[in-house]
Order: sequence, then structure tokens, then C-alpha cells
Amino acid sequence: MKPVSLIQFLIEERRAGHINAELSLLIEVVARACKRIAVATGKGALGGVLGAAGTDNIQGEAQKKLDVISNEILLEANAWGGHLAACASEEMEDPQPIPDGYPRGQHLLLFDPLDGSSNIDVNISVGTIFSVLRCPDGVTEPVAEHFLQPGTTQLAAGYVVYGPSTLLVLTFGHGTHEFTLDREIGSFILSRRDIRIPAATGEFAINMSNQRHWEAPMQRYIGELLAGGDGPRGRDFNMRWVASMVADVHRIVTRGGVFFYPLDAKIRSKGGKLRLMYEANPMAFIVEQAGGAASTGRERIMELQPTGLHQRVPVFLGSKDEVELATHYHVEADGAQG
Ligand code: AHG
Repeated sequence: MKPVSLIQFLIEERRAGHINAELSLLIEVVARACKRIAVATGKGALGGVLGAAGTDNIQGEAQKKLDVISNEILLEANAWGGHLAACASEEMEDPQPIPDGYPRGQHLLLFDPLDGSSNIDVNISVGTIFSVLRCPDGVTEPVAEHFLQPGTTQLAAGYVVYGPSTLLVLTFGHGTHEFTLDREIGSFILSRRDIRIPAATGEFAINMSNQRHWEAPMQRYIGELLAGGDGPRGRDFNMRWVASMVADVHRIVTRGGVFFYPLDAKIRSKGGKLRLMYEANPMAFIVEQAGGAASTGRERIMELQPTGLHQRVPVFLGSKDEVELATHYHVEADGAQG
């Protein structure tokens, strides 16, 4: 089989009527920017890019130098192509308008430029996550409220993993597809078309150090997994936690599994740990398009009506059977409480 490049894939998607020329250009630009981020992360200590930037982002989290560099790369790449009305990022309080003098497009782009950045200094995989929305009709100067659209309205979502290989995983709502960066020719090449996540799994991902802070239904669900063959599930489960959502989700997209960042007593007032607009929604779209499920433990993530650009939510995603069971335990417990 002849290799299919990302560009060729995008042309096919246009011919199939799944995307228009502007969205195709947007994905090309994001992919090109991510190649630059891959180069920057790959240089490590030799590029002087490790360590803290000495600044905090809007969420009050200390920024790494590579958070700032990756954000700059994505903003600069997306400023001038005419495909965007505005961008929003984990690293910026407000959306960034397109600079004066450049044409404006119909799309809104949201991203977490470098997810899992606490892993950079220890040379563990990190990634970029992005989501694409349509700019509401008639809006020429988009502000935060114009981004507050449910995940079901996403036109595209993707992530790039900077790991042993650099991989792009992408959906336009017609399946989930993976591209591997051929570093010699500098192109993303289709490596898996129509990825499927099996409904059943024996592997889960959660930060167990938060166990004592979880809600009762989460305690019950994970307790049953840990009891393994001696418990009600009647079989053993394995656990993995990279603490880079992109890497954990990519494992699930590759061999199945289920990922949880539930509500716990420490983060209850914030609503969760992970961000809805540029982490949970795009990952939910990718996972659902691969046959998996994504919930907050109570509701389908993609049906939430966002209330803030940097809103946080609990995240359960991956193999359908496990997301549904953990969600069922939460809904049942809520019902019992009346
Ligand atoms: P950040 O974007 O600030 O690097 O956050 C990383 C996220 C996500 O990638 C990961 O799943 C989670 O935080 C890890 O959280 P813990 O450190 O609490 O395990």
C-alpha cells in the first residue's frame, strides 16, 4: 500500500464533503506548528528549553518554558492564514484575536499547547490537544462567550503525542485516524485508519494517590477493580498512570483501557482537574469516534453546555463498558440520595 500523507488525507476528506478548504488549511497549519513543537521538545537540555518559565498561567499553575514556547508557536502559525476568527489557549486568560492586517476566517481554535508539561523535565511523553469550532454567524470579533459551545458542535479535534514517535490523532466526526511523523521527510503519514477502542478492557488509569478524597461511587468502582479475581468483577485488572493525559489516552486509543480524573474533595470547588474546552471535549470526540465513551460520571461530556473558557470537569473516558459502569454507580448513588 502506498503511504497516505496528511495532505492527501485532507484532500480526500474535502472530496468526501467532510471538511471545507479552510478547515483543511487549519489542520495543515496546526500539524506544521506541532512539528516545530516536536523539534523544540526533542532538543531538551541542549535547546535550553527545560525548566520553569518563572511565570504562572491563568489557572495559577507555574508555566514551564516549553508551555510558553509551544503556545507562541501555535499562535504565530495560526495568525496569518485567514482560516481563524480567534484562538483560545490554556495559557491565556482571554481569546487571542487575529492581528489587524490579516484576513479572518470562520473557525475558532482552542488548544492546550503542551499537556502534561510536568513530565518534560523527566523526558516522559507530553502532547498538544486541540479542538475546532465554528465561529457563530455574524461575529467578527469573537470573545470568550462565542467559544462556549457544547462538544457536540466540534468540527474537528486532535492531539499530538511527543513520544518515541511523534503522532497526530485526528477526527472530523467520521472516525478517528492516526498519523506518524516521518522525521526524514518531515510529513505526517497515515498509520491507522478508523481506530476502534474495544468495549471491554482489563486496564485502568487513575491517580491512586487521591483515593481517600474520591466520592463514594468512585471508591466503590475502583475498589471492585482492585479486588480483581477475588471481588465482584471476578477477574484481575492492571493499572497505568503516565500523568500526561495525551499519553494515557493514546494508550487507550491503541490497546483499549479506561481513564479517570474524577471529582475529589480537594478539587471539588474547582469542578474537576481537567479543562472542558481544550482537554475533555476534544478527547471525548476522539474517543467516541473510535467507539469509546466519555462522561463526567453523571453526563456525556460532549453534551455539557460550557460556562467558562477554562471550566474544569471530571473526566471518565475510554472503553465503553467501564465508562458506563462507573457512570452508572455515580447516577445510582445520586438517585439514592434523592
Ligand atoms: P498540565 O496540562 O497542567 O500539564 O496537566 C496535566 C494533566 C493531565 O495531562 C494529566 O492527566 C493530569 O494533569 C495529571 O494530574 P496529576 O498530576 O494530579 O496526576
